[in-house]
Amino acid sequence: HLVKSAEFIKSSPKESECPKDGLPEFALVGRSNVGKSSLINALVNRKELAQTSKRPGKTQLINHFRINNNWYLVDLPGYGYAKAPTAVRTDWNEFTKDYFLHRKTLVSVLLLVDGSIPPLKIDLDCADWLGRNKIPVTIVFTKCDRRKKRKNGGRAPAENVRDFEKQLQDSFDQSPPWIMTSSATGQGKDELLQHITRLRDY
Ligand code: GTP
Ligand code: MG
Repeated sequence: HLVKSAEFIKSSPKESECPKDGLPEFALVGRSNVGKSSLINALVNRKELAQTSKRPGKTQLINHFRINNNWYLVDLPGYGYAKAPTAVRTDWNEFTKDYFLHRKTLVSVLLLVDGSIPPLKIDLDCADWLGRNKIPVTIVFTKCDRRKKRKNGGRAPAENVRDFEKQLQDSFDQSPPWIMTSSATGQGKDELLQHITRLRDY
């Protein structure tokens, strides 16, 4: 298996307090409920690693997990809330932006987007901000096992992916790589890990 070890290292309130060992890192972001914890646990084959750093309340922290002792998976606060999907405000704190703009060891942001629904403005806005700030992004579509019935207005994940990509054209110089995944079936898991390895060793 591609992941041999995974351990929670620390939670940091700001970029300047993140680990300083210089290991390359990949930061996960996405809307609340997008499937972030499920993806982390699927990637590392553990049921509850992502819970390790969970804190009650609204504390916003940057959580570092060290994988195979040579790279970090970083869990960042999400944005938006499932209960108010129409409140399309990218409510990242300044500290999250500070992390994106100043973290030298950040190889790529892994932006999680629900692949089972048509693009949401809040996700497009988030991708747009990253693109305009020249931050490397990989789009990871989640829940690609899910497909709503066509008679209920549902579409295949591939259509949602195409739509998302099309709507992002003006935000990036080069359209970002994307991977379709499902934590339920394991789809895309190895592809994502191989993608990470490629970017890391480049
Ligand atoms: P918060 O931490 O609450 O913001 O959510 P999260 O982004 O960590 O999402 P989480 O992993 O907790 O998953 C949210 C819901 O989506 C849960 O009910 C999961 O079971 C479901 N879910 C996550 N990934 C998948 C997937 O690949 N397929 C399907 N069908 N459901 C998924
Ligand atoms: Mg979670």
